[in-house]
Amino acid sequence: MTSASLLPVRHYLQFSDLSADEYAHLFARAAEIKRKFKAYEKYHPLADRTLAMIFEKASTRTRVSFEAGMYQLGGSVVHLTTGDSQLGRAEPIEDSARVISRMTDLVMIRTYGHDKIEKFAQYSRVPVINGLTNEFHPCQILADIFTYIEHRGAIAGKVVAWVGDGNNMANTWLQAAELLGFTVHLSTPSGYEVDQAVAGLRSSASYKVFQDPLEACRGADLVTTDVWTSMGYEAENEARKKAFADWCVDTDMMQAAQADALFMHCLPAHRGEEVSADVIDGPQSVVWDEAENRLHVQKALMEFLLLGKVTV
Ligand code: CP
Ligand code: NVA
Repeated sequence: MTSASLLPVRHYLQFSDLSADEYAHLFARAAEIKRKFKAYEKYHPLADRTLAMIFEKASTRTRVSFEAGMYQLGGSVVHLTTGDSQLGRAEPIEDSARVISRMTDLVMIRTYGHDKIEKFAQYSRVPVINGLTNEFHPCQILADIFTYIEHRGAIAGKVVAWVGDGNNMANTWLQAAELLGFTVHLSTPSGYEVDQAVAGLRSSASYKVFQDPLEACRGADLVTTDVWTSMGYEAENEARKKAFADWCVDTDMMQAAQADALFMHCLPAHRGEEVSADVIDGPQSVVWDEAENRLHVQKALMEFLLLGKVTV
């Protein structure tokens, strides 16, 4: 075994799995790792380490950022999907976890129900990272907050407007607000609200609910949204198109926000549905920085989970 076995195994399944202090460390490391990358400085702290990536849903950003990131840190990757592994032929999750975690140092999983990744982690000898479940997408919010900090400084005390589905992204924003001390203005269509218990919140103190999405955006420092239909919910597509018609971030909503408000979207986006083209392609949008930062923050996360608080 590598030195990963010397550290207690820490998983990253939800945003609340790390403390505010650990996030401060990760954001500082992400900035340093990004600087090294931009300067073509070789940085191989994960030489001889292997990341297993398991995808049960489609991906572009998560696949590329984890795979490129691990190679850039000197390690290697194994890519598995449901269709080309025994996972798709009903091998029990606990058996898959035992086997994969004896052969690799780190596992990233994108799957459906959060219970699946929790079970995998329970039987894994090595850290498990959530690359998106139906309930949470912590690596994305890690990138989003890092992007906010790069552009505007500390996020504590700020207001983030969430316009759209009460989905994995919304749940994770809410966990982040509770932990890092900002407020979420939440506007979802009726029937698509966030469930506070599913989101795993301690209280409702860090969010406010708005019927009208424009009111949610009023005075916000950051406006963000996501697709009307997430992966796994495609059967609801037609009903969602009707229910979400007014939850499109447009220039009126951006004008209601602070003059220097940013716009974010985890991508992929549907212009003309959850966001108008002039907003996502406009001057307040930082979606390309946000996507790029997946790479840098996840490299910092992998370093932290395998090596602890590195300072070089
Ligand atoms: N934002 C995000 O996770 O993108 P992918 O689905 O392309 O990985
Ligand atoms: N909420 C979306 C995010 C995609 C990155 C989904 O789960 O499909």
